Amino acid sequence: MNTFTNLIKRRITCRNFSDQTLSRQQLQDLIHAAVWVPSGSNNQPWRFVVITDRNRLQHYSDVAKAAWLADLDAAPHIRQYETFLKDPDYNIFYNAPALIIVYGDTHSYWHVYDCSMVAYNLHLLAEDQGLGCCWIGFGHNIFADPQVKSELGVPRHYQLVAPVILGHPAVSSEHRNNPNQRKPFEIHWI
Ligand SMILES: Cc1cc2nc3c(=O)[nH]c(=O)nc-3n(C[C@H](O)[C@H](O)[C@H](O)COP(=O)(O)O)c2cc1C
Repeated sequence: MNTFTNLIKRRITCRNFSDQTLSRQQLQDLIHAAVWVPSGSNNQPWRFVVITDRNRLQHYSDVAKAAWLADLDAAPHIRQYETFLKDPDYNIFYNAPALIIVYGDTHSYWHVYDCSMVAYNLHLLAEDQGLGCCWIGFGHNIFADPQVKSELGVPRHYQLVAPVILGHPAVSSEHRNNPNQRKPFEIHWI
């Protein structure tokens, strides 16, 4: 099997990071490589916010957890994680040294698909470079909040698509096999 297929199958989500930071240059290079995706009408409708201040991430984690817990009825898909969200030691960003938030331009019809591919590319690039990566759905409430967006300098017509944490894994992933199996699915041949 070629190495790119191996890379795709080897990638797993990382939730445990070392203290090692990522430089601005490293993060910038990752973003500049990740945007090489197809996009609807070639609009390339993305922009990014990068947060490397762990205290600020801790603050956003606390705010996000409180907001989910305050209205679980409005977010039934989150209810299964209630115990995590009630744990004061649980940081939704897992103390990662960097968060890249991908926003999509709502003037562009396909922005969610386009930006999701960029987010996945960040996962693949991370795997390729021995870094860890995780899409943080728990961050979707705060980073979509108009006040937080304004705080982050994001124009109103940009919609949150993907908050993605990155860092060096606490345990090296070099020789690991992906323990996750794929669930059965249908292929309907015509
Ligand atoms: C849209 C989306 C939201 C996710 N949100 C979270 C999250 O908030 N916290 C978390 O720990 N993992 C999150 N994940 C990671 C998934 O839990 C993970 O991809 C899944 O369990 C499969 O594991 P794998 O990535 O190792 O294959 C998210 C993944 C996606 C694609």
